[in-house]
Amino acid sequence: MSNERIADQGPLSKVNPFRVMTVMARAQHLESQGRRIVHMEAGEPDFSSAQPIIDAGKRALDDGLTQYTAATGLAQLRECLSVHYRENYNVEVDANRILITPGASGGLNLLANLLVRAGDGVLLSDPAYPCVRNFIHMMSAQPQLIPVGIEQNFQPTLEQLDEYCTDKTSGLWLASPSNPTGTILERSKLKEACNWAASRQKHLLVDEIYHGLHYVDDLPSVLELDQSAFVVNSFSKYFGMTGWRLGWIVVPQEHVEMATILAQNMYISASSISQYAALAAFTPEAKRIFEERREAFRLRRDFLAGALKSMGFSLSDNIQGAFYIYADISKFSDDCEIFCRDMLEDHGVALTPGTDFGDFQSKRHVRIAFTTDMDSLELGVQRLQNALL
Ligand SMILES: Cc1ncc(COP(=O)(O)O)c(C=O)c1O
Repeated sequence: MSNERIADQGPLSKVNPFRVMTVMARAQHLESQGRRIVHMEAGEPDFSSAQPIIDAGKRALDDGLTQYTAATGLAQLRECLSVHYRENYNVEVDANRILITPGASGGLNLLANLLVRAGDGVLLSDPAYPCVRNFIHMMSAQPQLIPVGIEQNFQPTLEQLDEYCTDKTSGLWLASPSNPTGTILERSKLKEACNWAASRQKHLLVDEIYHGLHYVDDLPSVLELDQSAFVVNSFSKYFGMTGWRLGWIVVPQEHVEMATILAQNMYISASSISQYAALAAFTPEAKRIFEERREAFRLRRDFLAGALKSMGFSLSDNIQGAFYIYADISKFSDDCEIFCRDMLEDHGVALTPGTDFGDFQSKRHVRIAFTTDMDSLELGVQRLQNALL
């Protein structure tokens, strides 16, 4: 069957490419021709994994720990995560409810299969991480996109949840901190969302992948407020392990059995070496490295937000987590894709067009990532200034 025929026939026709990947490929191509490109498009830390993690991964290889693990993951790692919830959030999460997955991506995919049936609607923010929308499409279900603007901290309001909810809606999927906006759901707002979902018998899923990379004092996990919620998280971002492909989900007790069956079928187990390596993420030495890096991200955020504002980009004053600024480019352009193309081709700065993340005002936004060192950020800012001022 040809690709066109596969795409024509079903839900796959709605699955969009992830444009940032095209930007990255083009940036690499330009680099291969000798151009210096400033990478402000990448959604991953520029730091390589912390040394204790690398050492633990090497030891696991030397010890021949290369077999499948249990589908739910290594018991020790699930236990470490349970302790992580107790120590960082003051909440008891039984290790049995934690499943180790191949990245948050594997977790989101598993939860889509667990929670979403064909014909369902799932409430999502617009803008949001694009793959989520596509996972819903893959289930022959309908993403119900809620437009969220800067004035509401890029998170849906209760009034909007009521407005966009239909009799098809089966759940509400949120992210805090959010990609691409870096904004969070404060405790009171998160609680409201929990109450809303419970009172309407909708499932609630919260993507907490950017937890740890937050710059506010209080960033609650939904599990502190509602143990019936589903959580997606990952070793990719705060723990700096993108390429190891390791994440986790937390599910309510009554869903553990079915989630385990799905894990067995979908991927057998997450990578064993990555899981042994991740055990070292819970040592004090690794924690110190993560915290230093968080501080580096905070300084970059402060620098970049100030520089962009003084250039005339308009952006939130509440970039509370993750490593992105979702900037309004109206002063310079009404088409983010042309803007990003020009910035890359003519000025050597790689940015991600807002159209990757949804439809709502997306053409007048770009996502600018501070996942590169301060010298490169300064060069990127200088190039943007030369291009725009
Ligand atoms: C909000 C969000 N969720 C999930 C993912 C997937 O991450 P991974 O599969 O690397 O854990 C990403 C990656 O950028 C993300 O931004």
